[in-house]
Order: sequence, then structure tokens, then C-alpha cells
Amino acid sequence: MAVAPVRANPTPRSVSILGSTGSVGCNTIALIEDRRADYVVDALTAQSNVPRLAEQARRLRPRLAVIGDPALYGALKDALAGTDIAVAAGPDAIIEAALRPAEWVMAAIVGAAGLAPTLAAVRRGAIVGLANKECLVCAGELLMREARECGAMLLPVDSEHNAIFQVFDFTQPAAVERLILTASGGPFRTMNMRQMADVTPSQAVAHPNWDMGAKISVDSATLMNKGLEVIEAHHLFGLPSERIEVLVHPQSVVHSLVAYVDGSVLAQLGAPDMRTPIAYALGWPRRIPAPSARLDLSRVAQLTFEPPDPDRFPSLGLARSALQAGGTASAVLNAANEVAVQSFLADRIGFLDIARVVAETLALCPRFAVPDLSTVLALDREARRLAESCVLGLHRPQRRRGAARAARAAQ
Ligand SMILES: NC(=O)c1ccc[n+]([C@@H]2O[C@H](COP(=O)([O-])OP(=O)(O)OC[C@H]3O[C@@H](n4cnc5c(N)ncnc54)[C@H](OP(=O)(O)O)[C@@H]3O)[C@@H](O)[C@H]2O)c1
Repeated sequence: MAVAPVRANPTPRSVSILGSTGSVGCNTIALIEDRRADYVVDALTAQSNVPRLAEQARRLRPRLAVIGDPALYGALKDALAGTDIAVAAGPDAIIEAALRPAEWVMAAIVGAAGLAPTLAAVRRGAIVGLANKECLVCAGELLMREARECGAMLLPVDSEHNAIFQVFDFTQPAAVERLILTASGGPFRTMNMRQMADVTPSQAVAHPNWDMGAKISVDSATLMNKGLEVIEAHHLFGLPSERIEVLVHPQSVVHSLVAYVDGSVLAQLGAPDMRTPIAYALGWPRRIPAPSARLDLSRVAQLTFEPPDPDRFPSLGLARSALQAGGTASAVLNAANEVAVQSFLADRIGFLDIARVVAETLALCPRFAVPDLSTVLALDREARRLAESCVLGLHRPQRRRGAARAARAAQ
């Protein structure tokens, strides 16, 4: 774990938000707007949502606003005309935004696209609020090594890892026996395979407890999200896969737990509201108020836990296998999953096909032992190409829908 010396928290703290228009980005901005005197915004970035980025920039007055799609430079420039906010576009400009001297950076871009900008912030020794789990999945060893060498601080924003961070005894890591990651189980927790074969993208993104972006919502429904989080926890806290347990906990109140050698188990609890872990990272090393719903355990009444079902949710096992294979296997897993999830959201493949595409791509893609950045990025491209060919092989919407109807009729 990259634990940098605790720094004084200068007021106002200078912050940049990579992925400001997304679910985590908007929550971060809402918290900052509640405490305007404590924060000054240096840079905001988005991929294509010019109206939201421009509106955020007009309110927060960053020095720089960046849009990832170069074709949208003119639209952003026009939308910010009459302000003194600098405008830039393209993937390199997002890296430039990460390199600016903000003390604190929120890494909230979705997917492997967040890797290079996050690494840039880490290499200049920033405090990084790490929401983007995919960059640890793709290049965890590299990112953790660079964080240690460059004096960067990685603060987990994912609610499970943030929970572990709050109860992990960094003064005696050898006393930690295992980590227990909780999972809501997603919207299809109680469905059988026949029902799952026919679910739609809109059902998959309707998470029962959390309000999140589309990709992570689908990942939660397949339990790939938990697989990615096992890999993330391995890199952040240094435990092997077999000492990182997963428990399905449908109430999403216990966000994760740390079990110690003396039999003690410490947990962090709260309402399922991302503003709590984001506020923890934004204020670190101090706690700041967050307007999240308050936990009332008497209303929750029951907390239940059960093991995940490996047959209905094979993605968790695929992620564990990739972690055990080591090297670039996790980067391949991640790229294949990103392609498969996008294909499912575009209604090109069925829900159960997501894990099939990932498994086939893992079997087809070459692996390398040493994941430096250029190898990871090359493998990411190759895995996407192979995953796309798997999707094309499965892309038979008429047959898929017909098969699902037949399965329903047979029930
Ligand atoms: N949402 C949550 O509650 C939650 C919880 C835990 C962890 N996380 C993790 O946090 C990250 C963000 O999740 P999210 O739910 O906030 O995602 P989201 O709502 O989809 O937002 C993604 C953000 O990234 C930008 N973006 C998308 N593609 C990009 C690209 N190729 N290059 C640069 N920027 C790009 C988007 O810009 P546009 O809006 O312009 O497309 C948007 O600002 C993910 O890694 C997720 O796993 C999220």
C-alpha cells in the first residue's frame, strides 16, 4: 500500500477532477460546492458531454477544461466563450490536465482510458482519489510501484476499498488474516440462468442500492465488478486472492471487513451513498461532513450474508484466474470485459454472453510477464480486437431472443 507521510492539508486545497461529468465526478463536485472556501478547482475533464462540462466549468471556474473527443474542441470553446478558462481537447490534453500542479486529483474516468492520466498524476506525487479501479486491474504493479517511488498517495474511493482503508492497521499489516469484500449481488441476484439469459440493458443498469454509471452497474450485475475489486484489493493491500473473500450482502450497509489474526473482524458501515467515501478522500487526512443519508440500523433491521454463486456469476472466477495467472492477464480480462459490456449495452450480445466473451478472449490473447505501460496498452488494444471478434461470433440477436423466449416457455 502506498502510504505517503501524512501531509498538512492546505486550505484551500487545489483539486482536479478527471471524469468530472460522470457519477463519481458529479458527486465530487457537489461536495466541493458545499465547501467552496476549502477547495480551488484547477482542471476538469470529460470525454464527450460538452454541455455538462461547460456548465460545471462556469460554476467552478477551473483554470483548464478538457474534452477527450478532439472533434468537440470547438463546441467546448464556444460554450466557455467570455470566460478566462483555458480549453483543450484530446487524450494527451487529459494527461496534461493530470500533470497540472493540483495537490489532489480525483481519478474518475471509466475504464482503461483512465490509466495514462492517473499514472501521470501518480508520477508527480499527487494525492489521488482512486475511483477508477480499471487502472489498478490493468497495471496494478506498475501503479503501486510508481506511487511508492514518487511519493504519491492513493486513496481508494471504491466504497469497499475505502471501507478497508479505514479499518486496515497499516502499522501491523502482518496481523491481517484476510479481507472480506461485500457485494450487493446486483439486480439479478435471485434470478435463475434462464431468466438471466433474457435480461435487458435497462434492467442491468437499474442497480437496487447504488446510483452509478452504466458500465459499473453492468459489472455489478455480472459480479465482474467484485472480480475487478478482488484484483484492486490485492494491489492496494498486498494480500493474495485466496485471502480476499467475497460475501453477498444485499443490504449494502457493511461496506467491507478486515479479519485479524486474533479473531477480531473490523468493518465500516454506512448508507449506500458514494458521497461518504468521496468525502473521506477529499478531506483526507481530516474527515469532512457529507450530506449522505444517515444509517439507522433499527430500520435496516436485518443484515444478511451469503457466498456468491460461481455458476450463475462466472465473472468472479474469471477475474480470480486472471489475478493468479499474473502479468498482463488482468489487463486482457479488463479490456475484454469493457468490449463485452459495451456490446451488451448496445444490445449486440446477451447478458450471459459477457462472461463468454471474457473467457474466450483470455484463452486467445497472448500474455506477458512484465506489465510496463507500453506492453499493457498494446495488450489492451489486442484484447479489444479479439473480444470484438468474439462478439461478432455471438452477434445473432434474432437467435438469441428466440432462444431466450424458448427458455422462458420451457420454464
Ligand atoms: N459510480 C460509482 O458510484 C462508482 C463507485 C465505485 C467505483 N466507481 C468507478 O469510478 C469510475 C467512474 O465511474 P462512474 O460510474 O462515475 O462512470 P461514468 O458515470 O460513466 O463517468 C465516466 C466519466 O469518464 C469520462 N470518460 C468516459 N470515457 C472516457 C475516455 N475514453 N477518456 C476520458 N474520459 C472518459 C466520462 O465523460 P463523458 O461524461 O463526457 O462521457 C465521465 O466523465 C469507474 O472506474 C468505476 O468503476 C464508480
